[in-house]
Amino acid sequence: MESILKAIDLNTFYDRSHILFNVTLEVAPGETVCLMGRNGVGKTTTFRSLMGLTPPKTGTVVFKGKDCSGWASYRMARMGLGFVPEDRRILGPFTVRENLELGRIPGRSGRWDIDAVFKQFPLLADMPERMGGTLSGGEQQMLTIARALMGNPDVLMLDEPSEGLSPVIVGELKRLIQDLKAADTTILLSEQNLKFALAVSDRVVVLDKGHVVYGGSVAQFQKEEKIHKKYLAV
Ligand SMILES: Nc1ncnc2c1ncn2[C@@H]1O[C@H](COP(=O)(O)OP(=O)(O)O)[C@@H](O)[C@H]1O
Ligand SMILES: [Mg+2]
Repeated sequence: MESILKAIDLNTFYDRSHILFNVTLEVAPGETVCLMGRNGVGKTTTFRSLMGLTPPKTGTVVFKGKDCSGWASYRMARMGLGFVPEDRRILGPFTVRENLELGRIPGRSGRWDIDAVFKQFPLLADMPERMGGTLSGGEQQMLTIARALMGNPDVLMLDEPSEGLSPVIVGELKRLIQDLKAADTTILLSEQNLKFALAVSDRVVVLDKGHVVYGGSVAQFQKEEKIHKKYLAV
């Protein structure tokens, strides 16, 4: 199937430090692809490169058949690329409902509106007027994902969604991603939690020091113990 999102030979720098080296990956419609690798290998930089937050110096980003290289992040968002960054960025002095409303993107509509989000996230539906800043880490993670869905993205990017969450919340997150997959949502996520990644993904791409060092289906990757040992924190 034709990919909905493609990164071709991305080379990204922070000032003069070269971080991504010819990173190439693609995501097909409806697929869940997981970017794996230890701390500092370039997972977040890959998301930032795709989103236009840290534009690659060279390489091509193709989204929905269009060459979007060099586009600013607001244009990528309007085109339908959703991004939940690692640091979550809930607006503390705003309520849950207001945080969700802020996820709307002009010109984008679809199955996700405030009612649909509250149906998917009963936890948030129970506290629409709570201040964002008073939520637990797990509640904030759910709220940032819900907020990204409010923009009805065609591809949802989640940067290390399970990081720092309790096992109970990680279980809820797993069910959420499985629900989204069942509804044909296209997801690109990053993870260091191997079990979580194996449970939610269709395909895995492994990064090491800014290079793609492995790509394969979850069924194949599951058996690659040498690769787990070499490139993951297991
Ligand atoms: N804003 C920045 N300025 C300079 N270097 C950075 C910046 N952000 C990340 N880096 C460096 O880029 C490399 C990749 O980081 P990152 O993409 O955050 O990795 P990961 O998400 O896999 O942990 C690391 O060596 C990190 O120290
Ligand atoms: Mg990161």
